[in-house]
Amino acid sequence: MKKKAPELISNHHHDTLLFPSQFLWGAATSAHQIEGDNKHNDWWEWEKKKFRKDKNKQSGRAAGHYTRYKTDIKLVADFGHNAHRFSIEWSRVEPECGTWDELAIRHYKQVLQELKKYNITTMVTLHHFTTPLWLTKRGGWVNRRSPYYFERYAMKMHEAFDGLVDFWITINEPMIYVSNSFMQGMWPPQKKSVFKARRVLINMVKAHKRVWRSMTNRCHRGDQPCPKIGIAQNIFDFHSYNLYTITDYLIIRFLHWAVNIRFLKKIKRHMNFIGVNYYFHTRIRRSKKGFFKLETIDIREEDREASDMNWEVYPQGIFEALLALRHFKMPVYVTENGIATTNDHKRIRFLIGHLKEVYHAIQAGVDVQGYFYWSLLDNFEWDKGFWPRFGLVEVDYRTLKRTPRQSALVYKKICTENGIAHELLRFVGHGVRWNEDDRRATCVYE
Ligand code: BGC
Repeated sequence: MKKKAPELISNHHHDTLLFPSQFLWGAATSAHQIEGDNKHNDWWEWEKKKFRKDKNKQSGRAAGHYTRYKTDIKLVADFGHNAHRFSIEWSRVEPECGTWDELAIRHYKQVLQELKKYNITTMVTLHHFTTPLWLTKRGGWVNRRSPYYFERYAMKMHEAFDGLVDFWITINEPMIYVSNSFMQGMWPPQKKSVFKARRVLINMVKAHKRVWRSMTNRCHRGDQPCPKIGIAQNIFDFHSYNLYTITDYLIIRFLHWAVNIRFLKKIKRHMNFIGVNYYFHTRIRRSKKGFFKLETIDIREEDREASDMNWEVYPQGIFEALLALRHFKMPVYVTENGIATTNDHKRIRFLIGHLKEVYHAIQAGVDVQGYFYWSLLDNFEWDKGFWPRFGLVEVDYRTLKRTPRQSALVYKKICTENGIAHELLRFVGHGVRWNEDDRRATCVYE
């Protein structure tokens, strides 16, 4: 007897993948990467020395955002974003230890007021990789007093911006900062010391907790609503290349715990939400150079789709990253996710592919309440300089002219419809729907 073909057409659905109401849609930036002329921090000094002859690797005037913030915020509003994440440059507001630059504080207040003018929810980062020079000269985050200095700065900002900040992110990616700056020696202050790295982590945990306590106590004393406080944690999606060895499995579990989870565990009673930055799907295998040596696979070996920086495009990884946080039972925001590419079609596919996985994570029970694309503008990509293009908006670094990319408009459609419309799913293939009659899953692609 001839077998009946699976009923594909009846499963073809034309629904928009809807996100929860009140979902936050936005983009993220950081001060040093876009403002320009951040002369009082450790990065500025380091770039000048290290890349003395290479202007493309010095932040200089960056995207000139400090003076163009109004036009940039207008773009945010035009793009239909209902939230925005940016950072305050600590070294601007406190250029010398204990000395406050009131003009700089007023500037950030105006930025916040401008966002509020368009009814945009604000998420403010207090430390995004850069540290004031005065603190660096005192040992930076290795200094035992650094948590105290950080709390003093955070509270000054909290008082100055009463009611204007909805979410505070104390520290952006503490693990990346510690690894790049204190273990691998790639970023300033270029240390390679496990002891220093440990001390910095301890100080960052202390700093975060102090800020959480002080901000929360202050709001309990007044009539202000309590701010939501968290960190932005880079979550790697680690995979073992050799699926069937128990040692590799254990190594992956250990890495996941040490890199992704440990810091969050330490502060879990001192946060109101988790911020997730997702960029990396890391395939790891035992190196031929030695039994205990690990290596990450260069994805070019497998001819996979990658960004201009050779980071693998792997949307399912964001699903795994989010799922791994379910047991914290806390609201989660994707505080960064983006791609460096000059091929905007790739960015569109990236966006839709990753957002579809965020949608699935929500269906799987993760309390995801917002998504911030990295980044609003092309920007200064740290030690790589200006060539990686992450922006929804292209920046011409000669004229500082802004040109929105097609991806900005696709994202606008998603933000304003609070979901991924059926016609956009065509870029990545449809989802799976159960055939209610025989409970077989059939997958429909256009
Ligand atoms: C950082 C950003 C950076 C982005 C792309 C994130 O880890 O927070 O500052 O530009 O990755 O590398």
